[in-house]
Amino acid sequence: MSSPSSPREQWGSKIGFILAAAGSAIGLGNIWKFPYVAGENGGSAFIIIYLICTAVIGLPVLIGEILIGRTTQLNPVGAFRALSKSKFWAGVGGMGVVAGFLILSFYAVIAGWSLGYIYESISGGLFAYADPTKAADHFIELTNNVAWIIGYFAAFMILTMVVVFAGVQKGIERGSKIMMPLLFLLLIFVMIRGITMEGSSEGLKFLLEPDWSHVSGQTVLIALGQAFFTLSMGMGAMLTYGSYMSKKTSIPTSALQIVILDTAIALIAGIAIFTSVFAVGLDANAGPGLIFHTLPAVFTKMPGGEIIGPIFFILLTIAAITSAISLLEVITAYFVDEKGWSRHKAVLVFGGFTFILGIPSALSFNVMSNFTIFGLNFFDLVDYITSNIMLPLGGLLIAVFIAYVWKFDKALVELKNGAENIFNNYPLLITLWQIFIKYFAPVLIFLVLLHSIGLLDFLSL
Ligand code: PHE
Repeated sequence: MSSPSSPREQWGSKIGFILAAAGSAIGLGNIWKFPYVAGENGGSAFIIIYLICTAVIGLPVLIGEILIGRTTQLNPVGAFRALSKSKFWAGVGGMGVVAGFLILSFYAVIAGWSLGYIYESISGGLFAYADPTKAADHFIELTNNVAWIIGYFAAFMILTMVVVFAGVQKGIERGSKIMMPLLFLLLIFVMIRGITMEGSSEGLKFLLEPDWSHVSGQTVLIALGQAFFTLSMGMGAMLTYGSYMSKKTSIPTSALQIVILDTAIALIAGIAIFTSVFAVGLDANAGPGLIFHTLPAVFTKMPGGEIIGPIFFILLTIAAITSAISLLEVITAYFVDEKGWSRHKAVLVFGGFTFILGIPSALSFNVMSNFTIFGLNFFDLVDYITSNIMLPLGGLLIAVFIAYVWKFDKALVELKNGAENIFNNYPLLITLWQIFIKYFAPVLIFLVLLHSIGLLDFLSL
């Protein structure tokens, strides 16, 4: 978006930032990941914990992350360095760049499936899926095909690189003004179809009657990781987008809007998928393939499903692109700002590296499925380390940084820009934000991380 010589670009308008940030947040995390992770972790109890994590930790830290970006107008490494003059904190920004690179490597594999499903649904394959178990078998057949999975993964990476290369994000963001509401609408249709299917009440029960017996420290960590992942938080994507934000826009208001939108979409997707899963007799525990098993069966049971199916996968792919460009943007901004690379070189080199790193993730669904480390295949391992460890740790460090290194007296001066109304009329909210950043977020994240590595086992929680 900028080169060292040109002045840093800014979003054209207030809505520009919201669209870009919401574009980053809303993606596969909401529609693909949320339902399957909730399914694997006991349904509604997981969802309740996820909602609490989003409100108590997600929103305050998101405000903080955007604030660091807007204040410094720099990439994550430069931003932490500028505010702290310390190598350690610059390294924290560096961890974000690495996390972005790792996340993109597996994210693009799944986005490739969505791309592949556009063809599957247009080519009339959808009708072959009338029998839901056949739809699930078909998915397994496709992902067992190395050429299919790598081919679409490569195609998606190329699409993302073209967008970041050409710097046409703005066009995409403007396009999302139409496409995201459309995706929202289609999801609501799918949800209504799900709820009205015979046998859907089992799904609603799964979503509404919490079963706390499945909840452990691990569950809380995974819910926290999901809150960070779906909000694109803890690795500098929101920081980088905040760096292009005008000082006239209110950060707390924007962050709240992003959180509400993102959470609403995840919940709607969750209801749509679980009512359907139980209605058609599929397994809620199907793992990463869940939506690809389930949705084809739903589309065949919808009037106009043969049109809605392909449109849905087109929109899902676009939602994935707007998230993927924010991941690649973090890496690109770092090499452009800090190392003086050209934008084009950074995109080509790191797009290429990301593809290579993603190959073992793609192969985790077929030839490398038996290759495991700590009981996880390569795909699950990279996902686990980034979502459940690097992002929450990044969030913890952002909170600690603001409260104890940068300090509130300086942070609040910056936060007030654009948010004068809140400062003047609702000072309590600002005090609450400080309390959450200073105490709640760091302590809670720390405890969850400790517990998950077994260090709190003696408390037998
Ligand atoms: N939030 C994105 C999604 O839900 C994924 C993402 C994670 C994007 C981290 C950027 C950074 O699909």
